Amino acid sequence: MMSPKKSHATPKETSTCTFVLNGEPKTVCFPTHHTLLEVLREECGLTGTKHGCELGECGACTVLVDGQPILSCLALAVEVEGRPIETIEGLQDGNKLHPLQETFADLGAAQCGYCTPGILMAAKSLVERNQSPTRTEISEALSGNLCRCTGYHKIVEAVEGAAAQLRGEDWAPSHESQFGERS
Ligand code: FES
Ligand code: FES
Repeated sequence: MMSPKKSHATPKETSTCTFVLNGEPKTVCFPTHHTLLEVLREECGLTGTKHGCELGECGACTVLVDGQPILSCLALAVEVEGRPIETIEGLQDGNKLHPLQETFADLGAAQCGYCTPGILMAAKSLVERNQSPTRTEISEALSGNLCRCTGYHKIVEAVEGAAAQLRGEDWAPSHESQFGERS
């Protein structure tokens, strides 16, 4: 009679890390090979950060670490130990939407919405670094975030509008953005 084969499988290695998630300290235990995207969605239950290509090509998974946009599908969660992480869930202040959320809603700059959390986080980082970004600077800052729906014009205008509101200026969407070109 054959003896049963010995298993060479090792127990799954896990890590425990603490980081500051949307302003609150958070300690999480997760398989060590998990990306930050996986840990945010699976262990932290924050599914606002979207799982797109997982190849670093679409930007849907963008979050802020130390205020800088990173692709969470390409970062190991163990790499962000002790660092501040911002996700879309932390963007609004209580019941008050962030100006970026308001202008995206006003302009229809989110359609299916799959790209929107990543774009909002990349845009937040931009308007915090640059109070008056030009359209070219906005396009460059969002160049790693792909959108299949909007054609980008409304996204760029929405970021421009949010920057104006953050500077304390009145802003309203252009007639063309809301109703199309005048004939
Ligand atoms: S899911 Fe990370 S870049 Fe596409
Ligand atoms: S709103 Fe659909 S992918 Fe951007």
